[in-house]
Amino acid sequence: MAEQINPWSSAPKVDINRLFEEFGIESFAAQKPLLKDQPVFIRRDIVAGHRGYEAISEAIRMKKPFHVLTGFMPSGHPHFGHLMVMKEVVWHINQGGRGFISIADREAHAVRGLSWDFCDKYAREYMECLYALGFKGEIYSQRKNNLLKDLAFEAATKINFSELSAIYGFGPETELAHAMSVAMQVGDILYPQLVGGAAPTIVPVGIDQDPHIRLTRDVTKALRMFLVEDRGSHISIRAKKATPEAIDAVAKRFKGAKKYEGHIDLPAGHNAAEVDEIVRSIEQEFGGFGFMLPSSTYHSFLQGLQGGKMSSSVPESLVWFDDTEKDAKKKIMGALTGGRQTLEEQKQLGGEPEKCSIYQLNKFHMQEDDKELAKMCEACKAGELMCGTCKKETLERVLTFLKEFKEKRDEVSHMAEW
Ligand code: TRP
Repeated sequence: MAEQINPWSSAPKVDINRLFEEFGIESFAAQKPLLKDQPVFIRRDIVAGHRGYEAISEAIRMKKPFHVLTGFMPSGHPHFGHLMVMKEVVWHINQGGRGFISIADREAHAVRGLSWDFCDKYAREYMECLYALGFKGEIYSQRKNNLLKDLAFEAATKINFSELSAIYGFGPETELAHAMSVAMQVGDILYPQLVGGAAPTIVPVGIDQDPHIRLTRDVTKALRMFLVEDRGSHISIRAKKATPEAIDAVAKRFKGAKKYEGHIDLPAGHNAAEVDEIVRSIEQEFGGFGFMLPSSTYHSFLQGLQGGKMSSSVPESLVWFDDTEKDAKKKIMGALTGGRQTLEEQKQLGGEPEKCSIYQLNKFHMQEDDKELAKMCEACKAGELMCGTCKKETLERVLTFLKEFKEKRDEVSHMAEW
């Protein structure tokens, strides 16, 4: 059976490159040069893969409308592991995207058994963090958003149990609410287009969320009335569930259109992208959604301070935004590094930054200056920078960040209301 990614496992074992190949995720390398003023996560290849990002880089370049959405399960306090996706969302908003955040309280309730009161308490914390980072746009609760619930129901008309079993390994013992939370997430990803008009939508996520992206892209196609395909010699418009009136409207709209049973052919000379746009708007006139395929990015995970994955079930593996100075100090100073067994050995052989959780923390979040980061890396490899010193310097930066972040959160905390 094909490999599965389980979005709900606490420690998914993922070899990113193998998964990329197996699931047809594209490397981000070709997209990177298309982006100007690259933020850390692009410059340093932390965003490593994507689906359909072409539509987003083009929208940014051509200043065309696009949306950006992601979701957070309010099942615990936010922490450093959430920072990357939050920054990706804010950056895309600053590039012209319209911002949306789903607080996945239905998922947290269904999958983690969290009470609604706890969901609301944690939701507030996520909202504060997002606003503190400069988020602008709509933040909604899954359980309170009726448009979303209707959209999720519509999406569910295109999802069957064999797909759920193939994608997530769901079986007869799976609770219906868990399956419903999958439909909610599909609804989330399409929601920006429902309220903000059909447009490319970028969904920044960790690789563990890719099953939801794949499913949503399938559902998006299944919801369409028409499918426009450029066949080289002609353009084919397949009518999947369109009424005879809608098919007529499409056929009448294009010169030289030939109408057959269930499809329309256009002679060469038409521009496929333009045809797609027009067909989409006709679809919408006749009551269809006309959604565009959503796009996604995948970032590599920040290594935990104890070496393995950063996980809220291993408290020492990560820094929480509301950690006290004492907590943060204990975790940073006790972190597993790429240092050698003895000081002597380290001076001789140098450290191994690529294996070091402290280096990773700097690379991801704590050192924005590329030159300083390179200096740190070289001094470490040359055996000149010892782990103790490096940790102390990193701790200073972490404490400054935590202090400033807390102040910003306090400033925006009045915005964190439903
Ligand atoms: N399932 C996600 C998680 O476990 C949360 C989520 C809900 C989400 N809706 C989303 C993520 C839409 C991306 C897009 O964290």
